[in-house]
Amino acid sequence: MPKPKAMNFQHPIGEKPKNIWPTIRRIFFYMREDTFLFCFIFAAIVCSSAAQVIGAALLQYIIDDFILPLAQNYNEDLQQGFIKILFYMGIIYCLGAAASYTYMRLMLLLSTKTLYKIRQDLFHKMEALSIHYFDQHTHGELMSLYTNDTDTLREMLSNSVANFVAASLLLLGVFSTMLVFSWQLTVLVILQLFLIFYCMKKIGGKSRLYFKQQQNALGQLNGFIEEIIDGQKVVKVFCHEEHALTDFSKLNEDLCRVSTNANIFSNILMPIMSNIANIHYALTTILGSILAIYGILSVGTVIAFLQLTRNFSMPITRISQQFNTMLSALAGAERIFRLIDEPPEEDQGSITLTTSDDKRNTINGDTTCDLSLFSWKIPHKDGTLTYHPLTGHIEFKNVFFGYKTNQPVLKGISLQAVRGQKIAFVGSTGAGKTTITNLINRFYDIAEGTILYDGIPIKKISKTSLRQSLSMVLQDTHLFTGTVMDNIRYGCLSASDKAVIHAAKLANADTFIRHLPQGYETDLTADGINLSQGQRQLIAIARAAVANTPVLIFDEATSSIDTRTEALIDEGMKSLMQGKTVFIIAHRLSTVKNADMIMVLEQGTIIERGSHDELIEKKGKYYQLYTGMFELS
Ligand SMILES: Nc1ncnc2c1ncn2[C@@H]1O[C@H](COP(=O)(O)OP(=O)(O)O)[C@@H](O)[C@H]1O
Ligand SMILES: [Mg+2]
Repeated sequence: MPKPKAMNFQHPIGEKPKNIWPTIRRIFFYMREDTFLFCFIFAAIVCSSAAQVIGAALLQYIIDDFILPLAQNYNEDLQQGFIKILFYMGIIYCLGAAASYTYMRLMLLLSTKTLYKIRQDLFHKMEALSIHYFDQHTHGELMSLYTNDTDTLREMLSNSVANFVAASLLLLGVFSTMLVFSWQLTVLVILQLFLIFYCMKKIGGKSRLYFKQQQNALGQLNGFIEEIIDGQKVVKVFCHEEHALTDFSKLNEDLCRVSTNANIFSNILMPIMSNIANIHYALTTILGSILAIYGILSVGTVIAFLQLTRNFSMPITRISQQFNTMLSALAGAERIFRLIDEPPEEDQGSITLTTSDDKRNTINGDTTCDLSLFSWKIPHKDGTLTYHPLTGHIEFKNVFFGYKTNQPVLKGISLQAVRGQKIAFVGSTGAGKTTITNLINRFYDIAEGTILYDGIPIKKISKTSLRQSLSMVLQDTHLFTGTVMDNIRYGCLSASDKAVIHAAKLANADTFIRHLPQGYETDLTADGINLSQGQRQLIAIARAAVANTPVLIFDEATSSIDTRTEALIDEGMKSLMQGKTVFIIAHRLSTVKNADMIMVLEQGTIIERGSHDELIEKKGKYYQLYTGMFELS
């Protein structure tokens, strides 16, 4: 099944935040260390808005007290005063521009710092979540927190917030000054406001609907492209190119149609707005002139008012533009905080792995992770400590488990595995084999029964220590970007190069690695795509070898590999298994034949157990499987 990808994933467009204030408070909380910077930015915003209002208001003073008197009779003092006031006006506008520049720059700084902290928290929490969380949330859903949601939040913090506050302050300042200048002209302004809101509601509402459709169509188109890129081989094999092209054209046409609609509406909004503003400007000029002729207003007041009018419609458009961005950014922030608030994987285990020998990690001056030198440190209620050797003895006692309540997957599993023993599970797909191994490392907690590790209930063991004592090799190996050496070292970060090479030899991986272009230093890209599946599997086994844990789990590690490579892997596994507790799940019965104990699993219960010979003699399910009378599905 193809993995859902980030691009494929679409949050409902235009989703509104549910708790605006707590979310805003939370964002502010991230800025708590920068309170001074924040106050400074606010002060700069106030200065920049004030400069625009004062600059416009000064016009009245300049015209009424200097220009008009100067026009009537020239006077030296008046001219000096006029030059002085022009100079002050220039300074005010310069200060305003400097303040605008400052707050935009500082807001950028503040938003990057805040986003850094949020991303850090997000990743931190993600690493602390249980596997159960990842079962419930898709890859795309999580990725979109890091891409879309963080991005809209960054856009809001670095741009929208400051713009919004500046525009609101400007609007408030302009409107108050207008009221002081002339209530008659302000009435005109209020009428214009109503008209603007009416148009925005009519056109904006329709446009939002089409934008939503455009986003959906774009999401579908992107999803389709991605699916086809992923499945290019399948498309070619089944000659579906024509078909894919037809489907693509249809989606492309849909997108074209809805985006034309969306943009028609958004494009006509701006001209309508500017026409309203122009008509209003003309009406204000006419009414202002009439009022001036009748001596109700001075000429300076009318001109200053006209300047303020220009400053009035601009912030309204700006606020309405920022509003939607801010709402969707807050909805994204809410999703981010929801993940940050998820309860982390619980770990009440107090028993840890330890070693009393300080030289534990060095053998012949070489660093390894030899867990056989470790023991369990058990703290007691009275404050004393006891130590218990780590041997790798695993016991299941009547274990019941289901991923969902009321849907049991394992029903009464009991088994024992001691050091040096190889336990194999066979059974159809979905029988519960992988589930058993998921319980040993506590990816999930059991509903009933007990699992003991060296006689200790695993719930009492700290998860880190428990997982440190286990290695798993899975069917699909995950390799990280880095060299082959780094990838093997992932099993034990403190391992020296020598220890890594030793582990690779043990896992039978050394020969092929040496044949790679740069040997151990070969870079692996995109999940080791430049290696064959068998080679990737060998690296995974070497990774387990370097970890050198007392318990090893192989879950269908050789299922999708040819028999020749399988023989190689088997050989590698054999030397690795010496003196360890090994759980092995395999589809090919040849792999499990030499296990000490074979468990046949069916629908969550063990229906047969014993060695190969015993089970053949029994002539039960295993016998049927082995002789080919019954096939595994
Ligand atoms: N993460 C999960 N969430 C819910 N159900 C699951 C999950 N993993 C496995 N299952 C279900 O549990 C059952 C056993 O699965 P699994 O142990 O993977 O089988 P096997 O490894 O034997 O093929 C299956 O019915 C499967 O659908
Ligand atoms: Mg499985």
